[in-house]
Amino acid sequence: MRPSLRLLTLTALVAVPALAQSPNPLLGLPPVPVPADNPQTPEKEALGHKLFRDKRFSANGEVACETCHDRGKAFTDSPLPVSEGLGKAKGTRNAPTVLNAAFNETQFWDGREPSLERQSTQPFLNPIEMGLPSHEPILKVVRSDAEYQPLFKSAFGVSGGAITMDHVTKALAAFERAQVSGGSPFDRWYFGGEEKAVSDAVKRGFTVFLQQGRCVSCHTVSQTSALFTDGHFHNINVGFPRIEKDVVEMATAFSTAKKKGENVDVAVLANKNTSDLGRFAVDDRWAALGSFKTPTLRNIELTAPYMHDGSLKTLEEVVEHYSNGGKLKETDPEPSGFLSGGIRPLNLTADQKKDLVAFLKSLTSPQVAAAMTKSK
Ligand code: HEC
Ligand code: HEC
Repeated sequence: MRPSLRLLTLTALVAVPALAQSPNPLLGLPPVPVPADNPQTPEKEALGHKLFRDKRFSANGEVACETCHDRGKAFTDSPLPVSEGLGKAKGTRNAPTVLNAAFNETQFWDGREPSLERQSTQPFLNPIEMGLPSHEPILKVVRSDAEYQPLFKSAFGVSGGAITMDHVTKALAAFERAQVSGGSPFDRWYFGGEEKAVSDAVKRGFTVFLQQGRCVSCHTVSQTSALFTDGHFHNINVGFPRIEKDVVEMATAFSTAKKKGENVDVAVLANKNTSDLGRFAVDDRWAALGSFKTPTLRNIELTAPYMHDGSLKTLEEVVEHYSNGGKLKETDPEPSGFLSGGIRPLNLTADQKKDLVAFLKSLTSPQVAAAMTKSK
């Protein structure tokens, strides 16, 4: 069951006028959904921030959430194609940004967790991420560390032995819910009516996005806001050609292992073949094979490389992939029958491709770009 949602009011931020120097950082975003049992407070956000950076919650004391979701890299680990956790162990997937993850209907590329609260329980235990044997070592730290006591007290009114993982995951989620970013040049133009906020190339690129490119059918834009995702899962032929030949055998073997109790989180991040099964790991229908959650496109310029496996290096390569109907080179083999009906050759001209890239680059929030420069 999804928790009932309440709307978060960010009064402090709404009052900012749309000046060129200080655009409203929330322009273009819908209200942040907040579960009724975890109301947003500054105290929780501050506690969550400390938890997010704490490396003691990993088996070797070297990995925190922040290792792979670094504010200085738009909350990713760009330019790594796939994340590196404990002892630089390589996973199978590209770290999505935590920015605007508050709006996701499900978490992870395959949507295997329903909420931010639930999502955060997994990396602590995943052997290639933070590698703890159980959540006990986390509780040991937060229940005894002197710095944490006043923070849990003011956030939840608890300290010492009364602190539970429920508090830890709620605080982490509250911190993440505060990491929302709009106010990009595109937002100022499209939602704010500032004609000069973007170039003509961006405006032409947006037309390609809406029309010939058909991008908007999955990366959605509404009348008053844009998250650039439909929250659904599609096979757009990324990673899939590698497993296509044996996919039925692999999928059957995985389903059997899952019924016997195999941990899905561990399986998809440790085994590249299993990872590429995509949404099928969660939803056993054949139609889910090789499909992944449509990601947001906000701040996309800052988080190369792209796709669930980090296999496309640049935005130009992404556009090429779509223009060729789901393959990077025209000479690559035709995509399988599992390809989403929404993907077909677009035959974009060189100018249309350039404009589309210019549009994608207009989705960068200035405050996110500024955090990157600062950390360099
Ligand atoms: C070793 C690197 C690593 C660490 C450490 C890590 N993550 Fe991630 N994170 C990833 C990767 C890779 C994914 C995508 C995995 C997948 O989809 O299967 C991900 C996915 C997510 C998502 C889902 C975003 C989306 O758009 O679906 C959130 C939220 C998140 N991580 C938050 C956290 C938090 C909170 C922590 C600490 C408790 C954490 N991560 C620790 C690498 C990491
Ligand atoms: C049928 C739905 C669909 C359509 C149409 C579509 N996308 Fe996507 N897009 C996705 C999905 C799903 C992914 C993730 C796929 C994966 O990783 O395997 C994605 C990934 C991306 C990424 C990489 C995001 C990241 O964080 O790595 C970019 C950029 C992108 N799309 C841009 C576009 C553009 C531009 C168009 C139009 C030319 C477009 N998309 C059309 C569904 C779609």
